[in-house]
Amino acid sequence: MRGAAGLSAVAAVLGDLPRGVFAQKSSGITPFRFVHLSDTHIGYEGDANRDVAGTLDRSLMAIAALNPAPEFIVVTGDLTQAAETTTVRKARFVAFRSKMEGTGIPFYCVPGEHDALMDRGELYQKAIGPLHYRFERGGVQFFALDNVSRGFFVGDEQRQWLAQEIHKVDPNAPTIILAHAPLYDLFVPWNWYTYDAQQVLALFQHFRSVTVLFGHIHQLMSRRQPHVIQAAGLSTAWPLPEPVGLEKLEKWPQSASDPLMGLGLRVIDVGASGDMAVNTVLLSDERREEASS
Ligand SMILES: [Fe+2]
Repeated sequence: MRGAAGLSAVAAVLGDLPRGVFAQKSSGITPFRFVHLSDTHIGYEGDANRDVAGTLDRSLMAIAALNPAPEFIVVTGDLTQAAETTTVRKARFVAFRSKMEGTGIPFYCVPGEHDALMDRGELYQKAIGPLHYRFERGGVQFFALDNVSRGFFVGDEQRQWLAQEIHKVDPNAPTIILAHAPLYDLFVPWNWYTYDAQQVLALFQHFRSVTVLFGHIHQLMSRRQPHVIQAAGLSTAWPLPEPVGLEKLEKWPQSASDPLMGLGLRVIDVGASGDMAVNTVLLSDERREEASS
């Protein structure tokens, strides 16, 4: 089975987010698997990816091959590429949604700036769902946040909502925050930050363990603090450079020989003690396995 082989093959490359993410043990967790997808940019047309629908399809095929199957998929923003007109934007949301619904697997999204910045998330809410919300799976608390629709911040109103929701949950339960932009200053000149991140994370300071899964930067990077781990997912559309030695953020043309280079997704297995094993599936590895089988 391609998906399983892919998992074992790529576990070794997972240098940035080791296994056992939740340092503190919890009880009452029902083990489950979920997938972290990000930055699918449906509707993009250009040299960075000449077929964004195709690379999403490949990602969904890799997910379909997973055994055991994931219970759900989280998508951390930039589901669609921004467009000038509402008609085009709407069509892109519909295309994204229909591909995701075609998997038969529930999915939970947060908006990226491409989806929501031009109209404060109005169309996103109609096409996809609420900009922020909370859900629980197997004893793990998920907080889906919007840190893009009016700029790179969460804002007073959403933080007030968050404070109220936090009171309803057990701070000992493993907690996962989903957001598009990182909740730290990863690289401010490229908007790789959330400017009220410290205020947001302060609300969780009495929590045992918090994991932030984000997108936006189209590459694997993570940051570990005493009780908070933040980890980016891969894009299914194009990789971006590290913020080193470049003044301007620019994507590069898609490789002709390895068009799937740097694209992929993550598979996360939550164990009975709240531990979390994270594996990265690289689409180029999947393709090589197809070619050799
Ligand atoms: Fe993106």
